[in-house]
Amino acid sequence: MPIVTTTEMFRKAYEGGYAIGAFNVNNMEIVQGITEAAAELKAPVILQVSKGARAYANHTYLIKLVEAAEAETGLPIVLHLDHGDSFELCKSCVDGGFTSVMIDASSKSFEDNIALTRKVVEYAHDHGVVVEAELGTLAGVEDEVSVSDEDSSYTRPEDVEEFVTRTGCDSLAIAIGTSHGAYKFKPGTKPQLRFDILDEVARRLPGFPIVLHGSSSVPQEFVEAINAHGGKMPGAIGIPEEMLREAARRAVCKINIDSDLRLAMTATIREYFDEHPADFDPRAYLKPARAAIKAMVAHKIKDVLGCDGKA
Ligand code: G3H
Ligand code: 13P
Ligand code: ZN
Repeated sequence: MPIVTTTEMFRKAYEGGYAIGAFNVNNMEIVQGITEAAAELKAPVILQVSKGARAYANHTYLIKLVEAAEAETGLPIVLHLDHGDSFELCKSCVDGGFTSVMIDASSKSFEDNIALTRKVVEYAHDHGVVVEAELGTLAGVEDEVSVSDEDSSYTRPEDVEEFVTRTGCDSLAIAIGTSHGAYKFKPGTKPQLRFDILDEVARRLPGFPIVLHGSSSVPQEFVEAINAHGGKMPGAIGIPEEMLREAARRAVCKINIDSDLRLAMTATIREYFDEHPADFDPRAYLKPARAAIKAMVAHKIKDVLGCDGKA
């Protein structure tokens, strides 16, 4: 099966009350860990590449890794640009074999967001590629862009029909209280998501796939393992997994997870070096790190996304 777009995946996910996991990839071990879990569980999967990942690993290497994963597993895999910030970056990914791109113009004015998103949609659709757009602003850090809590804002449901109609985008990321990174809520506060906004968006856009960014749950055992082995992570708090499961039952068809994979990988490598201080073979510590990513993704597929057996 060639690398596919999200169209069929999202249609089935919407109808089936589950979501597809969109996991960020930066190197071979991450691609392998994710796709080995997805293959064992027969789960469709989205591998997404940020601007920073593309700068780190190189477009061609990432494309070839994803093609290799597709050839090894036979899974439906989507190759997606995460948080594209310009027409040129989106065009380069469309021209270079991605099947899906995100244009994130959410920090611009409503009209400028529409204009840039529309331009990307026209180019992408002409080349058989689908487009994710964003309305509303998440707090947190992605590449060089940092959005403070004060500057973040929930999506206004009254804007979504006009936005989707005028842009022609294929899916929409909304802000309902998730945020990027490992520090999503202030210590002592109770994590909350605005399901009322999600439901109102869904009511206005029946059947339209909604995307949740910033959806790591920051498992405490990994934060504790990092800190037990020389790390210094202060009060990291994520989105409770039962909230994500609930979002997947509603209109959310794509759930973005990156930080949890970073935590699993880093905790495993720190632990490894504490136990094997004289080792210096990268295979020795990347192998358990890859296995930790596989276990994390398997857990997300079964217990959070509900997309096992849907490939
Ligand atoms: O939302 C952003 C993703 O976690 C990717 O992060 O820009 O550091 O690659 P990155
Ligand atoms: P997390 O930082 O919560 O994993 O979010 C990742 C994300 O939204 C990538 O676009
Ligand atoms: Zn994101």
